[in-house]
Amino acid sequence: MRRLEGKVAVVTGASSGIGRAVTELFLAEGARVVGVGRNTGKLDVLSKELDAGPDFMTHAADLAEDDQARGVIRAAQEAFGGLDVLVNNAGVGYSYKDVRPGSMNTLAETPAADWDHVMGINLGSVVNCSRHALPAMLERGGGSIVNVASILGLVGNPDAHAYTAAKGAIVNLTRSLSTAYAKHNIRANTVCPGYIETPMVADFVDYLNSDEYRYQWNPTGRMGKPIEIANGVLFLASDEASYCNGSVLTIDGGVLAAAP
Ligand SMILES: NC(=O)c1ccc[n+]([C@@H]2O[C@H](COP(=O)([O-])OP(=O)(O)OC[C@H]3O[C@@H](n4cnc5c(N)ncnc54)[C@H](O)[C@@H]3O)[C@@H](O)[C@H]2O)c1
Repeated sequence: MRRLEGKVAVVTGASSGIGRAVTELFLAEGARVVGVGRNTGKLDVLSKELDAGPDFMTHAADLAEDDQARGVIRAAQEAFGGLDVLVNNAGVGYSYKDVRPGSMNTLAETPAADWDHVMGINLGSVVNCSRHALPAMLERGGGSIVNVASILGLVGNPDAHAYTAAKGAIVNLTRSLSTAYAKHNIRANTVCPGYIETPMVADFVDYLNSDEYRYQWNPTGRMGKPIEIANGVLFLASDEASYCNGSVLTIDGGVLAAAP
């Protein structure tokens, strides 16, 4: 029996990186999937490359917008008859190249509009999609929400303050959701990736692959691969994780376990 047989899933940020790996794995495990991204062209390429037939559809939306998030959940209900799994994976890094090339910013360096942008996508997309997914899951008699935060949602960082604030909020919102909806058979859990080979970290991939980072900060000595995060998301989405609720699964090669 495949691990998501008969389940309907929405995966946000499906066109690239971790979201694409989750989408491919979910389809292989028997789910019907709505893959969401902002860019219609990228979603068309994804559809063509996956060639998954009637089990897969794409939906373009800016998930910082509540109405568009509502449209995503409705699309899943109309196309596949309901919703069982929501993977809130969409997100943006924070690279303000005009100020500090290839870097991320402190609060004092972050203009208000940029703060709102990062919070609107990284936290707002989770809030908006979950707001509309929860009633759909209640109708279904249960469900599983898996939120992709970051190790930067668990520890502080000298830079990237909008990003760390959004990811930390995701971790604790997920805990709150888990306490509220457990009685309705809806679980909510968080995956916190370390540094993973995706377009998001392209600006500082040289540093992450440097000996200084690999040996001083990362006990495993390499970056992670999207499938290594997707495997954790699959576990939490599936019934195998029936007693996981409000959990935080760190998948980081041991970065957070290491003292420098
Ligand atoms: N790559 C890493 O090292 C790393 C580490 C920790 C956490 N994460 C988190 O993992 C998640 C996936 O990131 P990734 O590395 O695969 O990056 P990515 O850039 O490859 O993918 C991000 C996806 O999010 C989508 N997206 C962005 N803004 C959106 C919006 N407003 N509405 C809808 N979709 C939107 C993009 O279209 C894209 O599909 C993110 O939440 C990211 O913060 C990544």
